Amino acid sequence: MSKKRGILLSFEGVEGTGKSTQTRRLCKYLKNKGIKYTVLREPGSSVLGEQIRHILLYSKGKLSNFAETLLFIAARDQLRRQKIDAALEEKDVVILDRYADATIAYQGYGSGVDLKLIRELNKIAMGAAIPDVTILFDIDPGIGLVRSGRNDRFEKRKLAFHERVRQGYLRIAKENPKRIKIINAKEDVVCVQDKVRVILLNALKSTKSR
Ligand code: TYD
Repeated sequence: MSKKRGILLSFEGVEGTGKSTQTRRLCKYLKNKGIKYTVLREPGSSVLGEQIRHILLYSKGKLSNFAETLLFIAARDQLRRQKIDAALEEKDVVILDRYADATIAYQGYGSGVDLKLIRELNKIAMGAAIPDVTILFDIDPGIGLVRSGRNDRFEKRKLAFHERVRQGYLRIAKENPKRIKIINAKEDVVCVQDKVRVILLNALKSTKSR
């Protein structure tokens, strides 16, 4: 008999989609239901990952697109080996605030780094920890950037960059219709929250019947 493994749920989207609010709401809901969960964020959630995050978000020096890509992949590999694999053994649900699709959307579609290469690197970094479900919070980046109101290396980029990222995400979703569920992030927060819950409950149900 195969060993029970938790659900791996990743959250993706451009800036200012309300991902963090939805993560908090989902955690509260899971806690109340007695479902064991953990949340990890990318880049970050490991000592090395948080150091890399600082470079990626706030480095004053110029980072080449390829160097940036490799840093995201390094953070991912570290997090997966150090935390995600173990969390999947212990928890019912592992929530990832961004994961492999982000590098394809941002560095690939956004900055023009070779998509095939990113997919290969992602494959190594993810190992067997491939998301069961990915929720893509979709919003017009013009609205998202105003909502987010932050000013890191990514948020400072031109609107055209964020438009390419959004289109990239939508393309990835089209290529992976079973795994990726799109939610319109412009909708009311409770409405989005309810959709997130339904998607997760369905995923939990389908793994139980496996
Ligand atoms: P974060 O503060 O986590 O942003 P958000 O709250 O919008 O998720 O910062 C992560 C930034 O890094 C975000 O702008 C997206 C970017 N990013 C990439 O460009 N590539 C990646 O592979 C990942 C994981 C994130």
